[in-house]
Amino acid sequence: MAFKTVVFYGSYRRDRNGIRAAKFLLEHLTQRGHTTVFADAMEYDFGLLDRMYKEHEPGQAPAKMEELAEHIRTADGFVVVTGEYNHSILPGLSNLMDHFLEEYYFRPAGIVSYSVGGFGGVRAAVHLRVFLGEMGMPTISSMFAIPKITEALNADGEPQDESLIERLGSFLDELEWYEEALKRQRDEKGKPF
Ligand SMILES: Cc1cc2nc3c(=O)[nH]c(=O)nc-3n(C[C@H](O)[C@H](O)[C@H](O)COP(=O)(O)O)c2cc1C
Repeated sequence: MAFKTVVFYGSYRRDRNGIRAAKFLLEHLTQRGHTTVFADAMEYDFGLLDRMYKEHEPGQAPAKMEELAEHIRTADGFVVVTGEYNHSILPGLSNLMDHFLEEYYFRPAGIVSYSVGGFGGVRAAVHLRVFLGEMGMPTISSMFAIPKITEALNADGEPQDESLIERLGSFLDELEWYEEALKRQRDEKGKPF
């Protein structure tokens, strides 16, 4: 089955490291045949939340917001990449994602976390599960954590250790299972609301 998957990432730091994880995910999703969209907060750059997408009159949202809304509405699933700032998710990521709500409903999300230290951003990943659940995305059970990201992935997002690729394979197997299952349910029964 051909999937469309949107990858979210939200660091605005000029020396940002999580871009390595985003590139790694985008590359491997593409290799598996996904149509990918990179929802990079720095590139979409909506500014701090003023109006949500749905609060604009139809057709009046800024063009980049309209573009991303359409990608989210037509996605089969999401991968959300978060670093960890003070044990929580990146403000740039939550600000980007807060612009949308109903557009996400009934599509699964996989959580990827990273840090330059040894814990791989897992504390932020736990927060992210609650955040995504509130926004209508069931999160898959597995979380994909990347400790010591600057050693694990080079600047192009290429892994320095084969085990990362093996782990990613099972994570994406699970994501695809949910993408297919929820797509079938949406196609057959529509959405309850
Ligand atoms: C404000 C701030 C808070 C941070 N807090 C944590 C933390 O709680 N745990 C951790 O493992 N790393 C922490 N770090 C280090 C980050 O893991 C590291 O800077 C990482 O590269 C951030 O992701 P980014 O480069 O994509 O912005 C923090 C960094 C910043 C800038």
